[in-house]
Formats: sequence, structure tokens, C-alpha cells
Amino acid sequence: MADVDVAELPAFPFVSPPSQPFVPVGEDDLARLDAPVTRVRLPLGGWAWLVTRHADVRAVLRAAPTMSSSPWTPGFPLINPVPPTPEQAAGAFIYMDGIDHVRLRKMLLPEFMLRNVKRVEPLIEQSVIECLDDIEATGAPADMIRSFALPVPSMTICHLLGVPYEEHDYFQKLSLAYMDRASTEDEINAVGEGLTALMVKVIEQKFVNPGDDLISRLLTEQIGPGNITPQEAMGLGMMVLIAGHETSANMIGLSILKLLEHPEHYAALRETPERAPAIVEELLRYLTVVRGGIPRVAMEDMEIGGQKIKAGEGVLAMISLANRDPELFPDSAGFDPDREQLHQHLAFGFGVHQCIGQPLARSELRIALVELSRRFPDLKLARSVSEMPLRPNTVTLGLAELPVTW
Ligand code: HEM
Repeated sequence: MADVDVAELPAFPFVSPPSQPFVPVGEDDLARLDAPVTRVRLPLGGWAWLVTRHADVRAVLRAAPTMSSSPWTPGFPLINPVPPTPEQAAGAFIYMDGIDHVRLRKMLLPEFMLRNVKRVEPLIEQSVIECLDDIEATGAPADMIRSFALPVPSMTICHLLGVPYEEHDYFQKLSLAYMDRASTEDEINAVGEGLTALMVKVIEQKFVNPGDDLISRLLTEQIGPGNITPQEAMGLGMMVLIAGHETSANMIGLSILKLLEHPEHYAALRETPERAPAIVEELLRYLTVVRGGIPRVAMEDMEIGGQKIKAGEGVLAMISLANRDPELFPDSAGFDPDREQLHQHLAFGFGVHQCIGQPLARSELRIALVELSRRFPDLKLARSVSEMPLRPNTVTLGLAELPVTW
């Protein structure tokens, strides 16, 4: 490592050009990368390997647990704020490897299987319709982030977990701070404390009065028999609350922007709703909101894409660039729901940590976008794409506002 001149390396994370939300990495930053697996300088010091090709990104993500997800392992490339100690993140299996990860993920898996998500769909529809009724009643113009993209996943996840919806403003604020790269350690601690207090309140309520929700089931089926500690159950709930909210909200907002730029696809959602799953899949590939890449640290020496990576070195698997890899996706910067290999995109990650909430995220996106195109066939952007403000410093790419009219 001594021979690496860190100051000379391209600085990461790249900020997509502010006027081009559909460009994962700007030309200037791309031009500074000298190989498909190459070193970048990290914001908090040190460097990591940036992995950009589809096949190599898959190889990194498939290599778990040799490629560790634990941010407390020395050498882990920290780009996102995380709780300061593993104890404070008990239950949050996104940060775990091996049997600990498997044990906790297994408990949550049935909740997010397709047949359970199908049961939640009427509820997503209801949330979508309520939001659209409000938008119609208030009249044009509307900000689709505040009135649609944020509340729909927020209502859904609150219901799924059993968190009273009145709390959604509060947890939305906490989750925004958690997903802000500019948050300090104190701010992240404060988020942890706020979310813990919220979960304690919900768990106490469910203990007395259980319902048909994830937290009640965790209490009766897992904490009761001693499969997990109350601390872990709390961490599990907090992780789902944050992971299930921000990503889906940003995807809904950016999808509306992309579809209004391509009115033929927006119209297709209304006229041929059976096309919706392919359009949603291409939106996931094209937008890849987890722009900062997926961080890992090598636990053993290995080779990725012909590059030797030593134990203790950090790796950033750039799913946003992998999803634009022309080897697999010809004309990868074009938007084409009919492309071959559509389903090989990596927007939800790959391997043992692949997103557990993907059936839910797909349903939310499909229902939200189809219903929107039916109710507001003449929806238009109130500003050009290049004038739409992106949220600065966020872990996942998202719009700060999306003004529309009709
Ligand atoms: C479009 C929306 C979404 C996107 C793009 C997305 C993306 C991702 C990605 C890339 C990962 C892999 C992280 C890694 O390998 O370290 C992941 C993991 C995860 N996601 Fe999602 N996600 C979305 C929605 C959701 C929803 C709705 C939920 C829950 C309600 C959820 C819960 C999780 C959880 C719990 C994990 C950790 C899985 C594990 O470590 O085993 N996500 N997500």
C-alpha cells in the first residue's frame, strides 16, 4: 500500500453532473479511471478499488463472505454513515456476514416473499389513490416528491411493520439524516437514539395489543421462543424502516421524471399495463439509485477482473456502472424496456445480500406509476429535466423536488 499516492487518485464518491440526473458518472470522472478495476480516493481518507464492469461487480458480490459487508472490519471503504459499533447495529443484517447474516435474514424472508407482497398490494393501491386524490383536490402545480414519491413507500412500510402512520413524518426526517453523507457521527447517533425510542414505543404497544404486522410476528414468533433478542428485533425493524423507504421513494420520483421525458412509455403504462413490469425493470436498470456503489472489504487475497486484491483492501462494486456495461446492455445509455438481458441488471445487488424488499419495491413502483398515468394522462414537467434539483449528499440518488402540472 506504501506505493499508492492517494492524493493523485480520482476522488470518490463522484457526484453525477447536477444537471444530468440520468448520467451515473460524468465524462470527466470516467476519463480519470484508467482501468475497469482501479483505485479511487475515499472521502474519509485512504483508497479503495472501484469495480465497474458487470461481470466483475457480480464476482465481488458473489464472493461474500470473503468479501465482507461489515463496516467495522479494518479496511472497509466507508462512504456512508453507519452506526459506530456493531452493538448499536444489532439485528441490522445488511452489515453482517456468514451465519449471523443468514440467521436474521431467514426470519424476515417470508414477510417479503411474492405471495405476501401480493397481500399488501391492495394497501399500496389505497395509499396511491389517497395521494392522487389529494393532488387532484389541491390542483396544479404539484411537487410529486412531497405529495407522492415520499408518502407512498412511507405509508406502505409503516403498515407492513405496524408503525402508526402518524409517526411517518418523524421517521422520514430521521431517515433523511441517516442517508445524508454529510451527517456527523453525533447526528447519526441522534438518529439511532430517535429510531430506538420509536421502536421501543411500537414494540411496547404490540406487546399489549399485537396486530397483523411484522413487528407483532417478530414478538410472538421470534422473541418469545428466544430466537432473537429484543435488541436485535429493534435493529431489524429500524433497518427495514430505512432501507424500505428512501430507495423506493427516490425510484418513484426519478421514474416519473424519466417517463415524462419519454411520454410514449408513460402512455404505454396506461394503454398497455401488461408492459408495466418491463418498463419498471428498465427504470431500475437505467436509474440505479444506489449510485455510490456497494462497499465490501476483502478478507483474503483474490483476483477480480484480472486485478489482484489483497486481504484488508476495500472494494466498491459500482452497480450503476455495471448496469450501463455495453458488453451486456448494448446502447446502455438508451432507455429500452424491450432490451434483451433486462433481468440481469444489478439494481438490487447480487448474491446473499441481494435486496430482500425487491418484490415489494417492484409492486410499489408498478402500482404507483400505472395509477398515476391513468389518473393524470396529461401530466407534464413544470421545469426542464436539467432544472430539477437533486438532493445533495445522499447515499441514494434522488430529486429534492419534482414540480409537475396537468
Ligand atoms: C427500488 C427500491 C430498492 C432498491 C434499489 C434497493 C437496493 C438494494 C441493494 C442494492 C441492496 C444490496 C446491499 C448490499 O449488497 O450490501 C439492498 C439490500 C437490502 N434491501 Fe433493498 N432496495 C430497495 C427497496 C427495498 C425495500 C422496499 C426494502 C424493505 C422493505 C428493502 C430492504 C433491504 C434489506 C433488508 C436489505 C439487506 C439484505 C441483506 O443484507 O441480506 N429494500 N437493497
